[in-house]
Amino acid sequence: MAEAKAAAKGKKEAPDTLWSRRDFFSYAGWASFLGALGLSSLYFTRLLFPRVLFEPSPIFKAGNPQDYTVGEVSTKWVKDKRVWIVRDDEGIYAIFALCTHLGCTPRWLRTENKYKCPCHGSGFTREGINFEGPAPRALERLKIAVAPDGQIVIDKSKKFLLEKDEWTKAEAKLLA
Ligand code: FES
Repeated sequence: MAEAKAAAKGKKEAPDTLWSRRDFFSYAGWASFLGALGLSSLYFTRLLFPRVLFEPSPIFKAGNPQDYTVGEVSTKWVKDKRVWIVRDDEGIYAIFALCTHLGCTPRWLRTENKYKCPCHGSGFTREGINFEGPAPRALERLKIAVAPDGQIVIDKSKKFLLEKDEWTKAEAKLLA
């Protein structure tokens, strides 16, 4: 008996730890649970805001036909919409300001009566026909119509190509 007591005295007692093993696993379990909960909450929140690209509508109103002067190329929609509106003796048409070579935006040069692409020098007549530089085809025209309120409506999603003989279609020109 005395030997056993001596042996017990000789053993070092385990130091008091802040957390017992059971506490540690309990806290670790809660931490894992809360972590997983947080991640799944983030995931579901992310689902509420899908990665969608909001593109502007291809359709826009461009004022009244009277706003456009016969014989002039209007550049007022080039910056925002990339569209020239041209009025001739017959009516009004819209040209997409996108070079048919590699897609730069040409400039309307009124004194030279042509559109000139700054990238590789393609030139287009007032009507949009390519006549110099590497552009392989004419500029594209866009659908044009009149809305019930009398305003011009341009639809950039509908294009008319000269090489397909589409410039003569009714929607490619507004007789006004
Ligand atoms: S992009 Fe216009 S000439 Fe090349």
